[in-house]
Amino acid sequence: MLKDQILTELRRRKEFCSGQALCETFQVTRTAVWKAIQGLKEEGYKIEARQNRGYLLHSDRDALNEKELKAALRETAFFRDILYFQEIDSTNKEAKRRAEQGETGDLLLVADRQSDGRGRKGRSWSSPSGTGIWMSMLLHPAVRPEHASMITLITALAVADGICRVTGLDVGIKWPNDLVLSGKKICGILTEMNTDLEEIAYVVPGIGINVNTESFPEDIGDVATSLKRELGRTVDRLPLIAAIVEELIQALTLFQQTENLEQWKARYEARLVNLGRAVRVLDPRGEFSGIAEGINEQGELNVRREDGTFVCVRSGEVSVRGIYGYV
Ligand code: BTN
Repeated sequence: MLKDQILTELRRRKEFCSGQALCETFQVTRTAVWKAIQGLKEEGYKIEARQNRGYLLHSDRDALNEKELKAALRETAFFRDILYFQEIDSTNKEAKRRAEQGETGDLLLVADRQSDGRGRKGRSWSSPSGTGIWMSMLLHPAVRPEHASMITLITALAVADGICRVTGLDVGIKWPNDLVLSGKKICGILTEMNTDLEEIAYVVPGIGINVNTESFPEDIGDVATSLKRELGRTVDRLPLIAAIVEELIQALTLFQQTENLEQWKARYEARLVNLGRAVRVLDPRGEFSGIAEGINEQGELNVRREDGTFVCVRSGEVSVRGIYGYV
């Protein structure tokens, strides 16, 4: 395809390349070159066009598009398909829509921008173009419905491990599934599911990572950070997505066999920022405080209350006092 040929040529040249030269190299008209360049731009490649000089491809290591994504993900057999959206309302919403429309295979959905990104507790999730990883999985796991919530913890650990592998950053986990660096949030996970008592129809874990974000909306400015801020340099999203997806596939494959967190408990606790810390459990039946002493094999947080009794917290919301700057 002419688009691919021009892309290869611009990558090879690493400097301005005239439209005329491209026409001659590929024996096509100027209009054909122009159309191909427009197509590449629409796919997210940053191509500068200057009069009398031609076209220059700016570093495209971070260009996200379906072709690059599929090429970066070596192990794709786990998913029936990998879908890329330059813009979508929310990858979680799209995954759920597809499931409701009868999709029975597992999907990976990645977007460059979300116009209606969703967070937990009905909040919105800021998802601008070019700076973050906004992706969801549509899964139909063969596990008991009461075990589905563990997928969220496994997802958090896999994402933390993937980020650590690529950047070297020692990412922490705030139970159950926020990822933190320097006491601030770099990644949130929203897991939505459709289950009945007998079986899981589908599970959609949605992952939002602040990768190269430089400024945040005012309301989250104090509690959010990005990999770029922490590292002081830009991080390419493609290799990061590839590493995370590799970790996710490994973990989810194993989890479907074990249906408990025995294999992950030690590694999860090594990243758990709440460990040994005071937490306040916002339980709808009554708030209480205690010390977080780790997780059990079901992914519940073990909390020792001030009166010495133990509680396994399942769905309560935990906040950490003082030390960590958010919640
Ligand atoms: C949180 O509130 O911490 C969870 C945020 C989850 C955001 C991700 S971005 C990809 C996916 N699509 C969404 O609309 N939300 C999740």
